[in-house]
Amino acid sequence: MAEVGIDGIEIRTGKLKLDLPGTFAPAQGDDPEKFTKGLGLYTSSLPDVYEDIVTMAANASHRLLDRKDLSLSDIGRIDVATESAFDKSKPVSTYVAGCLEQVFEDDLHHANKGERKFACVAGTQALDDAYNWIRAGRNQGRKALVIATDTALYERDDPGESTQGAGAVAMLIDENPDLVAFSDAQGYGSADETDFLKPNQQFPSVDGKRSMQVYLARMREAMEDFERNGGDTHPDNFALIPFHTPFPGMVRRAAALGFRHCIRGTEVEEEVADEIGHQPRETEFDSHDAFLEAQKEYTETLTETNMYEEWYAETIEPTLAISRYVGNWYTGSVHIARAAGLQEALEDGRDLTGRQLLVGSYGSGAQAEIHAEAIQPGWEDEISQLNIDEQVENRRDITFDEYEQIHDVHNHDESIEMDPLTTPDGEFVFDGWGRMGERKYSYVE
Ligand code: CAA
Repeated sequence: MAEVGIDGIEIRTGKLKLDLPGTFAPAQGDDPEKFTKGLGLYTSSLPDVYEDIVTMAANASHRLLDRKDLSLSDIGRIDVATESAFDKSKPVSTYVAGCLEQVFEDDLHHANKGERKFACVAGTQALDDAYNWIRAGRNQGRKALVIATDTALYERDDPGESTQGAGAVAMLIDENPDLVAFSDAQGYGSADETDFLKPNQQFPSVDGKRSMQVYLARMREAMEDFERNGGDTHPDNFALIPFHTPFPGMVRRAAALGFRHCIRGTEVEEEVADEIGHQPRETEFDSHDAFLEAQKEYTETLTETNMYEEWYAETIEPTLAISRYVGNWYTGSVHIARAAGLQEALEDGRDLTGRQLLVGSYGSGAQAEIHAEAIQPGWEDEISQLNIDEQVENRRDITFDEYEQIHDVHNHDESIEMDPLTTPDGEFVFDGWGRMGERKYSYVE
């Protein structure tokens, strides 16, 4: 049976840049190092007045289809993953299809369209749906378009405001993919949690500190489930490990716990034991708390070893290279981590064909998912076509006053008028409201 996976990828960032240590921190009375050293963020991307989840999704998809020399009749399915939808009935994928039909000669009337919701893990779930559709042979030779798109905005002065971002990732799923092929083995960690949610509201209610604990707990469960399902998690197996990245500091924590878990009982634990001893085992302790304390100390010491630092620098750090400059993109976040890791690897001349990625997705509410991907021979060509660095570089740097206005413009409860801060150029734009309250889009040459 042919491999199924990601054949192509395109990334679209919001066109505005908020400098976190330089502009946001002083205005909020925060220490700039909370961003650079604590959260691991430098700038965030925000949408201009005429951008939203549809324009970013449609612009990424347009470039992807053009670049792959495809017409709309080649696409049999469009799934949009988002937690920023503005319509409770009509899926975002129909708006995106409407945009694409403005610029392609054929149409998408034959395509099955949907919307996936489970916080940030929905993008990965949509990849799964596409994989299953193709593997089941129901695609009639067509490909699937999966798009993860979000404007990750928080209420003003919510702690989450520091981690905002906006952007879309469009992915083409097909047989014999150019970029990565998905493994069959998967692991899940899923529980009914109230850490981050939007019950009929635009901005999330967040229990920030708890959300971090829930992320780590569900990710550990998913890892154990992946292992039970036959997944081998030895750290040497993986060239890169892209995680869902709400902010790089979160991944720093997840990576330390993940590495400790994966080396347990392996020759890697033995090798590092000469320097720092073996991992604590619960049977050696009188109480669970004493065991947890010893485990925490071991983990801290482990992360200071050369072995860990080298592994982190090669396997984790490259995946954070885009996120540090664009913030949290919710559903798109793990997919920019994959792209960033591969892009850095390409720049460093690493030969990754045939190597594995271990992908750790997460959505609040809460569910983590782990699977492996095999890097395909076409990955270098595919990744070299990305223009995300150029887009990030060309964003318009905004003042704090402009930030406050832009936040209001995108707040559904406000009706603020504001001139755009950038000029549209060869892209889809939001251009007003239709007679039934729908959002309207046009293509600006
Ligand atoms: N120098 C160096 N480091 C500093 C510093 C300074 N001057 N000031 C603060 N820091 C460090 C802190 O020590 C902390 O690091 P550690 O956690 O490693 O100790 C880090 O910077 C952040 O500082 P605070 O904890 O004081 O920041 P905060 O109170 O503003 O809250 C947050 C941080 C809870 C993550 C908040 O931004 C938030 O609620 N974010 C939204 C929720 C979120 O992203 N959760 C992640 C898991 S859930 C998920 O992944 C789903 C999703 O996408 C939302």
